[in-house]
Amino acid sequence: MNELAGKHIVLGLSGGIACYKAAELCRALIKQGASVQVVMTEAAERFMTPVTMQALSGRPVFSSQWDARTAGGVDNNMPHINLSREADAILVAPASADFMAKLLHGRADDLLSLMCLARPLERVPLILAPAMNREMWVHPATQRNVAQLRADGTTVLDVGAGEQACGETGDGRMLEPAELLDDIVAFFQPKALAGRRVLVTAGPTFEPIDPVRGITNHSSGKMGFAIAHAAWEAGAQVTLIAGPVTLPTPRGVRRLDVTTALQMRDAAEAEALQADVFIATAAVADWRPAQAADQKIKKDGQGTPPPMVFTENPDILAGLAASPRGRSGALYCVGFAAETDNLQAHAQAKRARKGVPLLVANHGPSAFGQDDNQLYLVDEQGVHPWPRDSKRALARRLVAEVARRLPPNS
Ligand code: CTP
Repeated sequence: MNELAGKHIVLGLSGGIACYKAAELCRALIKQGASVQVVMTEAAERFMTPVTMQALSGRPVFSSQWDARTAGGVDNNMPHINLSREADAILVAPASADFMAKLLHGRADDLLSLMCLARPLERVPLILAPAMNREMWVHPATQRNVAQLRADGTTVLDVGAGEQACGETGDGRMLEPAELLDDIVAFFQPKALAGRRVLVTAGPTFEPIDPVRGITNHSSGKMGFAIAHAAWEAGAQVTLIAGPVTLPTPRGVRRLDVTTALQMRDAAEAEALQADVFIATAAVADWRPAQAADQKIKKDGQGTPPPMVFTENPDILAGLAASPRGRSGALYCVGFAAETDNLQAHAQAKRARKGVPLLVANHGPSAFGQDDNQLYLVDEQGVHPWPRDSKRALARRLVAEVARRLPPNS
């Protein structure tokens, strides 16, 4: 993926043991197509050599405001101006407690803080990835600084929790490079769902026959997980109810794991009370054995299959679409349809049957487990085919499309 193609990031390092993660972050940004200009404080150079960062970024590292080298293609001895003007964002990772305190006061006694102060506010966003000991992080002074920096328009990312270099355990670790990358990619996405709550169901359900077997299907959950991730990127608060799948939880998303259709229905009904949007991508089993056996069902030696009685599972989507919030439009319901034949006709009939304003149809067998897909949007106007694309790109497009159709945020 080239998620950051065309973006120029100034990666600032202030002093902290988390500088070792900045090396991997630099590579990750470049792998996603960004160009990276590294700027280090004197303290950062105690933890990581500029040689390493130069090799990884493919550009000379700057650390002094007195540096007379050509910066940003200009020879005016003003690296703080030239380097900040060409940036799409300044990302300081790690941002130490001291560096944040300094920024808060608008101090500018080294190149990195000078650049942060001198950047054009409306054009070059500043993103901080804090990193410090847990006592430093929870200290009222740091928390006050974080709150004020946010109020000043700076994006201060979360911190991670866990073991710290000092041997203590708690909040304050810098996020891992992969998490930071996710946050930076998300940062550049339009915030079409800011302030909205989105509920997504994904994956198959598993309906037990006995303790060792059950009925399920080939849904991998990829499309639903991609939608949950895209909704988070678009600024929504996202809850993902997942059937049994092996996918990692998308960053920023609250995940609830369930197994059966009944469990998925219960979770979805409870969560839908708070949601503005419900996107049902799950391939819910239509039927479940009426009574799962307590013990493993054994062969009878005669070749007779065991008698099996099935009960229809509740339709989660139709149920929520018919709920008072669904009917009033307070809960905007989006269905999915996996078809094998007669896709457009089946999808239109399904949209009507489920009572949803929007249904997204795809060809089940060629979508299950794949990283790309072709979607057909079905609304009251008819069927709108979308060109084949990656599930990630389609998820973003769908999220934007849903956002466009929502009633204005109250
Ligand atoms: N769905 C649901 N609960 C069910 C069955 C389906 O919420 N018990 C949702 C799916 O998540 C999807 C949509 O309904 O958004 C359509 O699912 P699909 O399996 O394609 O349709 P079915 O209603 O099962 O119809 P059929 O099997 O006849 O195609």
